[in-house]
Amino acid sequence: MKKILFAASEAVPFIKTGGLADVVGSLPKELNTHDDCEASVVLPLYRVIPMQYKEQMDYITNFQVNIAGKSVYAGVFELHMDNVTWYFIDNEYYFSGDRIYEDGKWDLEKFAYFDKAVLTMCFVLGYRPDIIHCHDWQTGLIPVYLRNEYQTPEYYGDFFNGVKSIMTIHNLKFQGRWSVRQMQEITGLDDYFFTPDKMESYKEGNYLKGGLVYADWITTVSSVYADEIKTSYFGEGLDGLLRARSNNLSGIVNGIDYDEYNPHTDPFIPFNYKDTAFIRAKEGNKMDLQDELGLEVDRHKFMIGMISRLTEQKGFDLVNYIMDELVQDKNIQVVILGTGDQRFEDSFRYFENRYKGQVSSSIMYDNRRSHRIYAASDAFLMPSSFEPCGLSQLMALRYGSLPIVRETGGLKETVEPYNEYDQTGTGFSFRNYDAGEMLNTIKYAVWVFRDCRPEWNAMVKRAMQKDFSWGVSASKYNDLYNYLLGWY
Ligand code: GLC
Repeated sequence: MKKILFAASEAVPFIKTGGLADVVGSLPKELNTHDDCEASVVLPLYRVIPMQYKEQMDYITNFQVNIAGKSVYAGVFELHMDNVTWYFIDNEYYFSGDRIYEDGKWDLEKFAYFDKAVLTMCFVLGYRPDIIHCHDWQTGLIPVYLRNEYQTPEYYGDFFNGVKSIMTIHNLKFQGRWSVRQMQEITGLDDYFFTPDKMESYKEGNYLKGGLVYADWITTVSSVYADEIKTSYFGEGLDGLLRARSNNLSGIVNGIDYDEYNPHTDPFIPFNYKDTAFIRAKEGNKMDLQDELGLEVDRHKFMIGMISRLTEQKGFDLVNYIMDELVQDKNIQVVILGTGDQRFEDSFRYFENRYKGQVSSSIMYDNRRSHRIYAASDAFLMPSSFEPCGLSQLMALRYGSLPIVRETGGLKETVEPYNEYDQTGTGFSFRNYDAGEMLNTIKYAVWVFRDCRPEWNAMVKRAMQKDFSWGVSASKYNDLYNYLLGWY
């Protein structure tokens, strides 16, 4: 039996800002269905975690952590849920903010503290994981401290000997960068670490880089993205390092929770359906949502859904650019759900006002509504400029809302473009980050929907039959763990 400890800054259902939380919230559960694997998770105990979960946690111990020249308290709480043990590091000074990510330097100190506390917790609890699986820059210092401090015999004896680490990249854009001098004050790491072959990058200190240098293995969340980040266009300044480590870098595509996202049992949608009979139900769901959102109620409308963080990564500048032209076709409706950058929130509010009855913008996060949009929409638009994996297109496929995507990262890997000659495909895609190309692709989808309905329906069925549940991907992680431990 091998022990895997996930370290991350967010996980569903406790706290979520993005797809990272979905992955950390569902992968350990799936891993624990393998009888040779025991996955646990450690998270910060943020004040904003809902009370209902805090009430179920048990306090186990506390200790001190040396960080930023101070000795700081760390409490450990524990919770068992879904066959997974969840640990929480408690410190009010660091984790009492209204939001989990705040300003740059403070976050760097907060997560340096967390990373050290995670390692110290293992020692104090006498819990020796075989592998610490780290996620994104917030946990980038764990491999650094593990190798250079916790695996040296002075303080911890041989406790950490042979413990491996994995660094998973969910988004290379965020790296945890700051001036070298201040980062040294926070981390206590000396000059030795701040050279270009270690934690320095373009004259700055860089947590993620530290993780990528010292981890035993690097993964990212699709094979396509694993290749892309070795190029300068997608590499965010770290492509050289990723090329150098390409023998220890692989991509494993994310899954989604097939129980939570199941059109056949979904409690949020009025008409449940399966891949064998969906036409009436999807139309019913569409009319119900149209009514709720104040759109013109008509089952023949071509409804395009978008559910996303409203950021540049997700391609919203392309959408802004073509919106006026797109809605000239009065049979198209656009439904948006999400929050994010002010300029996109503003522009979508504006579009809703200007095209009342045809465009609906819900500037909020609402789980129920998101399920209803997947079930109601005919197509799901996701024109990302880059996309490590992307989860929404997987949910859309599951609900038979055909993704219209840009061919990048996980979108390219999971959505097979429609081929009208051999009748294959599960969606539509375009290659360049170009508003015109996107608009043409949308128009093509509209044409297939309107003039080739049997072919469209066959494609919906194929999309719904794809399997992007966690089973396959969790097995790949399990294989990787076994390989790293020499158990294969
Ligand atoms: C990030 C990426 C997204 C990925 C998610 C989970 O949010 O932008 O593509 O699906 O992490 O790995």
